[in-house]
Amino acid sequence: MKLQIYLQKSGVGSRRKCAGIIERGLVTVNGERQTVFWHEIEVGRDLVEVSGKAVSIVDEKFYYILNKPLGYVCANSDGFNTPTVFDFIRERYGIEEKLHSVGRLDKNTTGLLILTNDGDFTNAVIHPGRKVDKVYRALVKGIVSENQKKEFENGVDMDGYRTAPAKMEIIEETGDGNSLVEITIHEGKKRQVRIMCRSIGHEVVELQRIRIGNLTLDGVNEAGDLIKIDGEILFKRLGYNQKGWCSK
Ligand code: URA
Repeated sequence: MKLQIYLQKSGVGSRRKCAGIIERGLVTVNGERQTVFWHEIEVGRDLVEVSGKAVSIVDEKFYYILNKPLGYVCANSDGFNTPTVFDFIRERYGIEEKLHSVGRLDKNTTGLLILTNDGDFTNAVIHPGRKVDKVYRALVKGIVSENQKKEFENGVDMDGYRTAPAKMEIIEETGDGNSLVEITIHEGKKRQVRIMCRSIGHEVVELQRIRIGNLTLDGVNEAGDLIKIDGEILFKRLGYNQKGWCSK
C-alpha cells in the first residue's frame, strides 16, 4: 500500500494533509526518513512513524469470496471439532485475519460464501428487508411435480414460520429419477432450502449456492477457490449504489 494511503487509512488526516506531512519529512519507515508519497508499505510489517510516533491501520476491511468446500462449518466452532472455513483458509492460503462469514452455509453445502471483518457490511447484507437474491442449485430425490413446485414457491411452514414466496426452476430430471433444480430465496433461515424441499416431499442430496445478488462463482469456479475482492465492487454486485442499498 502506498505510504500516503497508509497514513490516511491510519487516521492521520486527509490525503492532502498526509501529503504535506510526508513532504515536510516528518515520516519515517523502519527508522528511515521517507519523502516519497508512493513508497510501498507492507502492512503489518513495516514500522511507520510520524514525528516519532508509530501509526498503524486500525480499521482495514477485508472481503473475500470463497467457494466453500464440503465438510467445513461456518461457525467458529460447532462443539464437535469439525473443521471450519476459517481453518480451511488459514491452512490453504495462510490467511490469519479474524473474519466472519456473511450468513452461513451448512457443513454439507458448497458454493458462494463471503468472508469479511466488516460487521456493518454483514448486518446490512443480511438485513431481512434487503431481499438480496440467494440462488442455489439443488439435487433432490425424486421427480418434482408442477404442483409441488407451486407449493414451494408459495412458501412453506418451517416450524410455525411461513417462508416468503420463493422461486424454483426445474433444470432437469437426472437419469436416476432425481431432479436438479434452481432455487431462489431471499431469507437466510437455518437449513432453509433443505427444510423447504423436504416439506414438499423431496430430500436434498446435494446443495450448492451459486449466486448472491449479482455476485456469482466467477473467479472461484472450483470448490476451495478463494479471491480477495475490493469492497466497492462487492457492494455494487450485491445491489448498493449511490442512493444506498436497493431493495426489491
Ligand atoms: N439452505 C440450506 O438448507 N442450507 C444452506 O447451507 C443454505 C441454505
